[in-house]
Amino acid sequence: MNVQDVMPKMGFGTYGRQGEAGIEAMLFALETGYRHLDTAQSYNTEAEVGEAVRRSGLGRDAVFLTTKISTENYGEGQVIASLRRSLETMGVEQVDLTLLHWPSPNGHQPLASYLLPLAEAQDMGLTRFIGVSNFTIALLEEAERLAGTGRIANNQVELNPHIQNKKLASYCLSKGISVTCYQPIAHGRLADDSVLRDIARRHDASVEQVALAFELAKGYAAIPTSSRHERIRSNFEALRLSLSEGEIARIETIDKNRRAIDPAWGPEWD
Ligand SMILES: NC(=O)c1ccc[n+]([C@@H]2O[C@H](COP(=O)([O-])OP(=O)(O)OC[C@H]3O[C@@H](n4cnc5c(N)ncnc54)[C@H](OP(=O)(O)O)[C@@H]3O)[C@@H](O)[C@H]2O)c1
Repeated sequence: MNVQDVMPKMGFGTYGRQGEAGIEAMLFALETGYRHLDTAQSYNTEAEVGEAVRRSGLGRDAVFLTTKISTENYGEGQVIASLRRSLETMGVEQVDLTLLHWPSPNGHQPLASYLLPLAEAQDMGLTRFIGVSNFTIALLEEAERLAGTGRIANNQVELNPHIQNKKLASYCLSKGISVTCYQPIAHGRLADDSVLRDIARRHDASVEQVALAFELAKGYAAIPTSSRHERIRSNFEALRLSLSEGEIARIETIDKNRRAIDPAWGPEWD
């Protein structure tokens, strides 16, 4: 089975959605129609994700769950042990997608030492699919060499109209690796973009909806988050917004390669 066939293209990010308010936001997202929640060991929202799914009454199979292994858990024996803890925290037997959150900081640990245990976790049934996040083309090539062609199902990267990551994204799609956009609405920083504003006005939509519709039209998944009901709903409604080829081409011209998440220990970006 292909991850593209089962992973809902519009997911709900859970960074910052902690505690009872976080559960409430996730529950509202599930009521709105989101069927994909994105968490990570480092977000401290895995318990909230599990609780929201249970309270929603939807049933485990109805919601696609993604988590990410923290780089702190890349040491020997820790990848599988930490994923087991994540499952326990969420109260589920399996997640749908588990990503390596970042390449090892400064390339300190060899990729094989933390990727191969993740592949083993998949063989054990702890996760349906495996993938990576913040990986470059060179790292993806190495990952495919190590884990085998077709094993890496997803690369989650910063991607929105101001950082379109074109080379990397088209490489991923050409290799059958699905792309998930994080910071898909640039954390609310797109509001002043005149091209997005113009297209939004023509559709009676928000610039954030235009950004999300653009990402979906390119064949990517997106995982916006918000603490506010009206934004949770309006972001989801971007699924109904259809952009013309001309509009997509206009948005392609506003790429500024403006990366917001760029730690000094991160990889050398494409
Ligand atoms: N793999 C990685 O390394 C990585 C890195 C970063 C994020 N992520 C994942 O990606 C998800 C999304 O990224 P993100 O949370 O950083 O950024 P984002 O979804 O692009 O932006 C969220 C921010 O924008 C505001 N917002 C939401 N909807 C809006 C709208 N319609 N209009 C204006 N502002 C709006 C929210 O504020 P309000 O709450 O006030 O609405 C919030 O501050 C995260 O939750 C996380 O799951 C992954």
